[in-house]
Amino acid sequence: MFDLIIRGGTVATASDVYAADIGIEGGVIVQIGRDLGEAKEVVDASGQYVLPGGIDSHVHIAQPSGEGIVMADDFETGTRSALFGGNTTILPFCLQEKGQSLREALKDYHALAEGNCYTDVSFHLIVSDPTPSVLGQELPALVEAGYTSFKVFMTYEALRLSDAQILDTMDVARRTGALVMVHCENEDAIRYLVGRHEAEGELAPKSHASTRPIAVEREATHRAVSLAEVADVPLVIVHVSNGEAMEEIERARRRGRKVIGETCPQYLMLTADDLDGMDWEGAKFVCSPPPRDKASQDACWDGLERGVFDLFSSDHCPFRYDDPQGKLNPKGAKHFRHIPNGIPGVELRLPILFSEGVKKGRIDLPRFVALTSTNQARTYGLYPRKGTIAIGSDADLTIWDPNLTRTVAHADMHDGADYSPYEGLELTGWPVTVVRNGSVVIENGKLSDTARTGRYLSRKRSSFASTAGPLPVA
Ligand code: URP
Ligand code: ZN
Ligand code: ZN
Ligand code: ZN
Repeated sequence: MFDLIIRGGTVATASDVYAADIGIEGGVIVQIGRDLGEAKEVVDASGQYVLPGGIDSHVHIAQPSGEGIVMADDFETGTRSALFGGNTTILPFCLQEKGQSLREALKDYHALAEGNCYTDVSFHLIVSDPTPSVLGQELPALVEAGYTSFKVFMTYEALRLSDAQILDTMDVARRTGALVMVHCENEDAIRYLVGRHEAEGELAPKSHASTRPIAVEREATHRAVSLAEVADVPLVIVHVSNGEAMEEIERARRRGRKVIGETCPQYLMLTADDLDGMDWEGAKFVCSPPPRDKASQDACWDGLERGVFDLFSSDHCPFRYDDPQGKLNPKGAKHFRHIPNGIPGVELRLPILFSEGVKKGRIDLPRFVALTSTNQARTYGLYPRKGTIAIGSDADLTIWDPNLTRTVAHADMHDGADYSPYEGLELTGWPVTVVRNGSVVIENGKLSDTARTGRYLSRKRSSFASTAGPLPVA
């Protein structure tokens, strides 16, 4: 007697698509086949795909944002929105503020998440203050404890590290087998361009894009892969927006470097023109790197098809628009530099890639699963517990109606923002039922009473990282 059987669906993994039923016991997949027998509960998936639950490794939730700015999602709304988007695991960032220890930052962040999550969660660390004690003691101990990835920034005044600091942080990764993620934009070049725009009085949201042109991202991407080569570590280049930055990744790979590329929905669906809306509406689309142009969108699609990108993540980073603590804060309503960076998107990541990618014949279904789940798990040390449909894996499954067409309306979203950058977009292919850890947490679009029981996941080292010492499997 199984706890649950998913019956009659078409199972899709990163390698295969086949008809099978899935038997679940104790939160884990225990059988895959036909005529599995009796279960306490049966979900009918006929006419639908059964996918490994989405894993979004790039999500910002309740992150301190400075100057009276408050992020639109806490763990409750952020993970709820993620779950409705077909995700069963997300990886938000725990931000170290300057002068703070990583352990303090983690204590606060865990307290915010505890008991409030609709998905499983695991944290990356953002290292903004790499002091000798952080690099020498804290970070290595935290890698051992299952925080096996950290992000460093080349931009943002409060977060940017110097090249020397990036090398020192990468060296911790080299010694411990952790994985470094880099936000690649040249802060000095941005400041120079901001000065020129200010001198001309060009302060509207569209100047956000023109002060962060492709060259700013391309140069920083080249520098990041070069620093990683010097330190001899693999790295992840997050949120790549254009073909020239992609070329830096490909050149590094031709030199034999392990570089993982990530792109996001905004670089496929938006352009810099969206920042040029009436009445400061362009603020809704301010994120970094900024959306580019049609040629860059095409390049990013090409990168998804050819494998330049292993990861398709949302970079969900929501701020309310019409709100003094959001995009239209008193300073942000007058000067683009004070518009908080980031846009919501965790709920639409899978529908956008499925509708625009799979339905339009750009990528096939296994590649869709790889980009949105399997590679995410492999990259960040969750595989094979997460990211696939296999005996022994957690029963995290998204049942997907490939023919359901809906028009995006923020009123239907489940995040804490007050708009969607994709309002009015028609998409075909949506999640309808979600199973997490063997429980049906969304059934035909309805949240179950017991859905807010997501767990914290301690992670192994990345399959891509250099020294592969054993870590406890969570
Ligand atoms: O504008 C963005 N992407 N905000 C989120 C923070 C980051 O750099 O990923
Ligand atoms: Zn970033
Ligand atoms: Zn981000
Ligand atoms: Zn909302």
